[in-house]
Amino acid sequence: MSKRNKRIYLLSVAIILAICCMLANKPAGAAGSKKPIQNGQKMYDTQSNIINAHGGGFTKVGDYYYWIGENRHNDVLVSCYRSKDLQSWEFRGDLLTRKSHPELANANIERPKVIYNEATKQFVMWMHYELRSDYGYARAAVAVSSSIEQPFTYLRSFRPLDNMSRDCNLFLDDDGVAYFISSTRENRDMNIYELTSSYLDIKQKVSTLWVDAQREAPALVKRGSYYFMVTSYCTGWEPNQGKYAFTSSLKGKWSSLKDVGSPTTFDTQPTFIIPIQGSKSTSYLYVGDRWDPTQYFESTYVFLPIKFENDTTLSISWNRTVSIDTKKGSVSGKSSTPKEYRIKCRNTGKYVIPKSEFIGDVKLSYTNDSLRWVVEHVGKGLVKIKHSTSKQYLDVNPDGACRLSNGTDSRSQLWQIQQQKDGWSYLANQQAGGMLSITKDAKSSLPMLRCATSESGKQLFLLAPAYE
Ligand code: GAL
Repeated sequence: MSKRNKRIYLLSVAIILAICCMLANKPAGAAGSKKPIQNGQKMYDTQSNIINAHGGGFTKVGDYYYWIGENRHNDVLVSCYRSKDLQSWEFRGDLLTRKSHPELANANIERPKVIYNEATKQFVMWMHYELRSDYGYARAAVAVSSSIEQPFTYLRSFRPLDNMSRDCNLFLDDDGVAYFISSTRENRDMNIYELTSSYLDIKQKVSTLWVDAQREAPALVKRGSYYFMVTSYCTGWEPNQGKYAFTSSLKGKWSSLKDVGSPTTFDTQPTFIIPIQGSKSTSYLYVGDRWDPTQYFESTYVFLPIKFENDTTLSISWNRTVSIDTKKGSVSGKSSTPKEYRIKCRNTGKYVIPKSEFIGDVKLSYTNDSLRWVVEHVGKGLVKIKHSTSKQYLDVNPDGACRLSNGTDSRSQLWQIQQQKDGWSYLANQQAGGMLSITKDAKSSLPMLRCATSESGKQLFLLAPAYE
C-alpha cells in the first residue's frame, strides 16, 4: 500500500469508528432502530427526544398505530406519535395546546383517547378536563379533527349527564357504537355511557359499575365474546393492586373484580390495552403509566403481554423487555426477577428510608435509590434486610427504634416476613420479639420506624419489588 493510500485507509477507518461510537451513544429507540421496549426506562422517539404521551391511548389507522397522550411540556397538552411496529415511534405533532381554545389556556388535560368515526370521517378525542389548580371540575371534554396527525378542534368540556367525570377511556365496539367510560361520584363508581352516532355527545348511561369500589384508570378491550376492563384503585399517582372484570355485554352485568399483576401492578396504573391483530394471531398488550409521584416528568411507561388462560381469565406478569411482531400479531417478553424492594408502610402510604439517626418514610420516587432494599434469605424462614446504597442492615436498638448497622450475627438483624393474603406483610424482629411499625416520635414528631417488644401495634408493610 502506498503512503497516500495508507493515510486514506486509516482516515476512513477512523471516520467509520467515530460514526459507530456516535450511534452507540444514542439513546434506545434512536432513528430507524427497532429495539425491544425497555419497561420503566425513558422511551425516545425516532429523533431521540423523550416520548411524552402519558395516560395515552392507541388508535390504528392503516398500518400505523398512533400513540396519543398527555404532554405537559411548555404549552402543549396532547401529543401524537406513530409506529408500524409499536417499538420505534415517530413524533407527528401536537394535537392540543393551551392556544387551541380559550378553555384550554388554564386547563389540565389528562388521559386523552381518540377513535375514528366512519360515518362522519372524523377523529374524535375524549379526555379528562380540569383547571390547573385542582381536580374540582371533574369534567369530560371533546375535540375533533379530520386527520389524526393534525391539530384537533376543541369543542367543549362538561359533566356527562351532570355526573362527575375524572379518569376516563373510550371504547369503539365492532358494531360502530362507541362508549365513554369514566370514574364518577368522587371516584367511587365507574360509569359507562353510550355515545351518540357522531361520537361527540353522550346518548345514555348504560352502566354503573362496582358502587363504592373506588376504581379508576379504566382500560377496555374485547376478545372473542367478552369485554374486559382493567382498572386501578384510587391512590393518586401511587401504584396499587390492578383488578379486572369481564362481561358479555357492555349494557349487561359485569363479573366481580379479580386481582391482576402484583400488589403495585408492577408499579403502573392502566391506561390502555392494545389489540395487535396479525397474520398468525391476535395478541393483547397492557399499557400502564409508571407515574413518578414526586416528579411527573420522570414518569415512564410499561408494556406487558396479557395472557388469557381461558375465555374469561387473564393474567399479566412482569417482563423487563418486550418485543412485538405486529405483522404476525405476537408479543414476547423477557421475564426477570427483581433483586431489590421498596418497603411501603400501609399506615402512612409512604416508603421506608434511612434518615440521619433513624429510619423514617418519604413519598415514592423511582429515581430515589435510597428507597431500595435487598432481602437476604439466611435460612429457617428468616431474612436480613440490607439497605441497597449504604450496604447496612435494618436493625433494632434496645429501646425499639430502628437503625442501620453493619452486618453482624445479632438476632436484632433477623426478621421473619409474615405475608398476608393480599401480599402485605408483618415483619417480626427476632431479638425484640415484636413487629415493625411506623409511629410519630414523641420528641421530633417525625414518623419513625420502630419495633415493639410485643405484637401490639403491629403494622402492615409491602415489600414491593423494584420492577425493572
Ligand atoms: C390518578 C389518575 C391520574 C391523575 C392523578 C392525579 O389517580 O389516574 O390520571 O389524575 O391521579 O393525582
